[in-house]
Amino acid sequence: MDMSKLSQPENSVKKQFDLSGKNILITGGAGFLGRFFCEAVSEMGGFPIILDIDREALKEARKHLSNQNFKSDGYLLDLTDASAVQRTVDTIIEKYKTIDVLINAAAFAMKNLKQGGPEFFASFEEYKKDLWQISLDVNLTGTFLITQAVGRIMKLKKKGVIINVASDVAVVSPDHRIYQPDERFDYKGVSFNTPLSYAVAKAGILSFTRYLATYWAKDGIRVNSVSFSGVYRNHDPKFVEQLSFRIPLGRMAFPQEYKGPIVFLASEASSFMTGANLVIDGGRTCW
Ligand SMILES: NC(=O)c1ccc[n+]([C@@H]2O[C@H](COP(=O)([O-])OP(=O)(O)OC[C@H]3O[C@@H](n4cnc5c(N)ncnc54)[C@H](O)[C@@H]3O)[C@@H](O)[C@H]2O)c1
Repeated sequence: MDMSKLSQPENSVKKQFDLSGKNILITGGAGFLGRFFCEAVSEMGGFPIILDIDREALKEARKHLSNQNFKSDGYLLDLTDASAVQRTVDTIIEKYKTIDVLINAAAFAMKNLKQGGPEFFASFEEYKKDLWQISLDVNLTGTFLITQAVGRIMKLKKKGVIINVASDVAVVSPDHRIYQPDERFDYKGVSFNTPLSYAVAKAGILSFTRYLATYWAKDGIRVNSVSFSGVYRNHDPKFVEQLSFRIPLGRMAFPQEYKGPIVFLASEASSFMTGANLVIDGGRTCW
């Protein structure tokens, strides 16, 4: 290969991180972290297009952006509905012509800490097939459907970036002890945990990422995942203590600490990166 014939990447690192003019589709963009991702890409000049199943949250997320003078668009969508996914992507393409970046952040995840009820956190032996299934449907099949619909467009344009949000529990097992009572620390435990379905779906996302990264490499589409660790969100201080003890940096993450990695992966700053899993976990998976 004659390297001198290749177009040179941008030299200015400031410009490498710039997202000006880019249409950035964010699934689950109305969620807790999704809002930070929307804000992050907006701050760097990008245009966030939010896809979410939660009407109220979608409205609030867009309001949060417009309060900062950021423009956005939003679509109510259940990612597990294949025809709705295709219709929504068609509408977006008709309106904006192109999707430059897809961030797959939707998950049957934190919301269920509140809404899933105790059954969502049942023991493995008692775990209901329906709850196992819904986690796989949203976290894996939903990601498959939207990536397929958007990937087709990116392939035609010979350009695109896909970011799949995984988790530290895609890399290592959750430490079940952080949820369980421990007399030694006067710890009563918590009523939630990380169900196997979540960990399995997130591990699947890593494989999904590697597969598509190699499959689409020749088509100018980069596909990476990012594995975050637990984010502080008014958790029980005793739980925070248990989790923080397992993290070399000694604490949970703040949500704004995940904005930089998202911008890095979405932008030209990561132009030589595909098929990778960027682990941002305070060292959690090191030991
Ligand atoms: N919060 C954390 O500590 C943490 C840690 C590691 C990884 N993650 C991952 O980061 C991402 C964001 O997490 P979060 O904490 O913001 O969760 P969240 O529950 O606040 O947000 C998820 C969003 O996905 C949406 N969603 C759920 N099902 C959907 C469907 N069928 N169709 C469309 N939208 C749907 C929800 O409405 C919600 O707005 C998730 O992928 C999660 O697994 C979170």
